Amino acid sequence: MTKQLRANLSATTLFLHEWLLCPQQIGAILPSSKNLASAMANWLPPEPGEFVLELGPGTGAVTHALLERGLRQDRLVAIEKSPRLAGLLRERFPRAHIITGDAFQLDRVLKKHVRQLNFVGAVISSLPLRNFAPEAADALARKIRAVLRPAGKWVQYSYYLGNGRPRGTSRFELLASDVVWWNLPPARVSVYQKPCETLQP
Ligand SMILES: C[S@@+](CC[C@H](N)C(=O)[O-])C[C@H]1O[C@@H](n2cnc3c(N)ncnc32)[C@H](O)[C@@H]1O
Repeated sequence: MTKQLRANLSATTLFLHEWLLCPQQIGAILPSSKNLASAMANWLPPEPGEFVLELGPGTGAVTHALLERGLRQDRLVAIEKSPRLAGLLRERFPRAHIITGDAFQLDRVLKKHVRQLNFVGAVISSLPLRNFAPEAADALARKIRAVLRPAGKWVQYSYYLGNGRPRGTSRFELLASDVVWWNLPPARVSVYQKPCETLQP
């Protein structure tokens, strides 16, 4: 067995273990496929020096795709709630800012851990939003809006394949929404943009 295959297997086993402990939080039994991760990474900001915030990176399937697409590790800030998954991410991506914390508190978490950060060019989220109260999703959307620069993008996937927009996204423009079928289960990737003229979060 190759080293890479062994690493993938142990990451998937850890993911499954975390799902058994806390299915609501993990929200999936397997990490994202390459197709889904790559569909998310398509929306990286063009400026290579811009910070990107990843929410719910899990074992790093999407993180890996973002870095492969050219994002610098030192420009990636990721918030993961599971301490064991965050530990794995620190081993895999030692120069990225991996924070063990609650993405729903991203304003406080960022202030505490990454002081030099004012705005990010994109928020890439794998959070299982439908497993949380609508009010929590609303509050999260407001915090995402506050940290995104004008015209910055919030990329979110969901296993809900319908076209309905999740709570909190009404103050964003919907740029794209497509289903990635080569994933277990298939997922919809939606891209919301903060309006350019926004002065207030
Ligand atoms: C569906 S998994 C996605 C994992 C990975 N991004 C992928 O696509 O394979 C959701 C991830 O979000 C994390 N998560 C859930 N709630 C969170 C929260 N409030 N703050 C930070 N991470 C959270 C879970 O621990 C899990 O790693």
